[in-house]
Amino acid sequence: MRSRLETRRLTLRPLRAEDGPALMELLADPAATWHPYRQPRQPADAEALLAAELARWQAGMPARWAVIHATELVGYAGFGPSPWPEHADAVDIGWRYAERWWGRGLAHEAGEAMLDELFRSRAARAALATFEPSNHRIAALLRRLGFVVTSEGTQYGHRVHVARLDAQRWRIPMTA
Ligand SMILES: CC(C)(COP(=O)(O)OP(=O)(O)OC[C@H]1O[C@@H](n2cnc3c(N)ncnc32)[C@H](O)[C@@H]1OP(=O)(O)O)[C@@H](O)C(=O)NCCC(=O)NCCS
Repeated sequence: MRSRLETRRLTLRPLRAEDGPALMELLADPAATWHPYRQPRQPADAEALLAAELARWQAGMPARWAVIHATELVGYAGFGPSPWPEHADAVDIGWRYAERWWGRGLAHEAGEAMLDELFRSRAARAALATFEPSNHRIAALLRRLGFVVTSEGTQYGHRVHVARLDAQRWRIPMTA
């Protein structure tokens, strides 16, 4: 997968050490962390996230990008391992943006670019998302991207929906 993606308004590039302060600010935002943690995260969580993502990019695995608007870090988005054994052929997709960036279609814009890259590069056969039904923003975003809820489960003590999008259902024609 390419580590740098450009969309109309955004640049997606690998998270890196200099993102530490902006990432800590994002993870200290109660709105951005409510699902699923119910409380802000600690600076050590931002450091752990950075280290894990750096390792995944270096290993050539699907990973999370820093999402940049102009020069500002909007948040992060991308792929990680599937937490569900029955979906071992899929990668997990996720987003976390600071609240001031919500409501502008930026998550959708990044989502289209990331999924297109995932399926064009054939890095996985499907993308998977796990979300709480009360998280209406993520539910709407996933619906718009074409995900379909396939099952329910429990994660972090909360009831969750598991939604899936298979490569053959990706609506943007792939040329690769
Ligand atoms: C999940 C999250 C990334 C969704 O962000 P979002 O901004 O709602 O998502 P979108 O990019 O799809 O934007 C949709 C909104 O932008 C509006 N919009 C404006 N311009 C748009 C455009 N050009 N294209 C599409 N939508 C546009 C839509 O009408 C919609 O508005 P609404 O908020 O009034 O319904 C964000 O809520 C978030 O980071 N939450 C915290 C972390 C979290 O819960 N992550 C998931 C854990 S499982």
